Amino acid sequence: DKGVYPYYMLKEIDEQVIVAHTLSQYYFDDNAQIQNIDDDIISAIKAADRLYIVAAGTSYHAGLVGKRYFEQWTGIPTEVHISSEFAYDQPLLSQRPFFIFLSQSGETADSREVLDNVVKQGYPSLTLANVMNSTLTREANFALPLLAGPEIAVASTKAYTAQIIVEAILAHAVGDSQIDLKNELAKTAVEMQVIIDQKDEFKTIAEQALRGQKSAFYIGRGLDAAVAVEAALKLKEISYIQTEGFAAGELKHGTISLIEEGTPVFALLTQSKTAGLVRGEIAQVAARGANTIIISGKALAKKGDAYILPDVNELLMPLLTVIPAQLIAYYATLDRNLDVDRPRNLAKSVTVQ
Ligand code: M6R
Repeated sequence: DKGVYPYYMLKEIDEQVIVAHTLSQYYFDDNAQIQNIDDDIISAIKAADRLYIVAAGTSYHAGLVGKRYFEQWTGIPTEVHISSEFAYDQPLLSQRPFFIFLSQSGETADSREVLDNVVKQGYPSLTLANVMNSTLTREANFALPLLAGPEIAVASTKAYTAQIIVEAILAHAVGDSQIDLKNELAKTAVEMQVIIDQKDEFKTIAEQALRGQKSAFYIGRGLDAAVAVEAALKLKEISYIQTEGFAAGELKHGTISLIEEGTPVFALLTQSKTAGLVRGEIAQVAARGANTIIISGKALAKKGDAYILPDVNELLMPLLTVIPAQLIAYYATLDRNLDVDRPRNLAKSVTVQ
C-alpha cells in the first residue's frame, strides 16, 4: 500500500533509512560483532582466489560499488559482470572462483542462466536477494537477505542501497575494514534522512535543469563513477531523457563533443583522491556551454555547488550520493506527467533472457 505517497518510488526512496537501520540490527550484535552470516559462507569466500559478482541493471551497479569493499577489505581480487554477457561468454576463470549473485527479485532469467552454468561447473555461490525463497536463493549454495521489504516501483531504489550495505557487511565480515562499520552505517543512515528531508531542493534542481531537455550526463570518478551509471539509469528509465553515466576522465576521449549550450551535466564529487581532476573536467564541459550541477561531499565542496552532501566515511558515500539522483529522476518524471512507477516497455522482474 502506498499510504500517503503518490508513488511507490517515493515511498521506497524514503524507506532506505529504515532499511539501513534494519540491516545493521540484523547483521551486527550489540557489541558490533557480525551475526547471522554463517561461518561456512565466510570460509568459502576466504578460500577463493577471486570473487565474481554477477547481476543485471541496478543490481549490477551495486556490484560495481561492492567490488571496492571486497578488494579493499578482503584483499581478494573481484570482478563484476553483467549476467546476460557472462552467460554466453564466460571469461577465463581463476583457479578457485567464488560467485556472488545480486538480485532484488531473485528471479532474473539472465542471472539464473549464469547460476545454472556455475552449479554445473561445481563452483561455490552465494546470492544476496531481497526475495528469499526465490530461484536464485534456492539454487545457490548460500543466500543472505537484503531485508528491504517489498519493492514495487519498477525503478529499483532501496534494493540498491540494501545491496551496497550487505556487500559492505560481508566484506567486513570476511576481511578487516579497519572501521567500526556498525557505527559508520548508523551515522550514514542519519545523514540519509537529512538528505531525504530536503526533497524540495531536488524538485527545484530537476525542474530547472531538466525541463525540456532531451539528454543529460552524470559524471564522476572511482565510486562516483559507479554511482553515475546508476544515477543515469534511474533518470533515463523513468523520464525517458537519454542519459549517459560514466567516468569523468573519459569525457575527453569522445563524449565531450556532445556537449552543447545548456546540456545538463550532473557531477558527483565525493572522493578526495580525484576531486581536483573532476573539478577540471567540470570546468571543461562548462567552458563548452554545459549546465553543470555539482553534488559534492562537504569536505570537498565549493561555493556554487548545487547540493552539498553531509560527510560520512568516503567508502560509504555511494549510499548518500544515490539519493539526490533518485529524487532528481523522480521529480523530472513527475514534471513530464509520466507514470513514475510503471515506465513503458519495462517489467519489475525480467524473467526472460
Ligand atoms: O531483480 P533484479 O535485481 O535481478 O533485477 C535486475 C534488473 O532488472 C533491475 O535492477 C532493473 O535494472 C531495474 N529496473 C532498475 O531500476
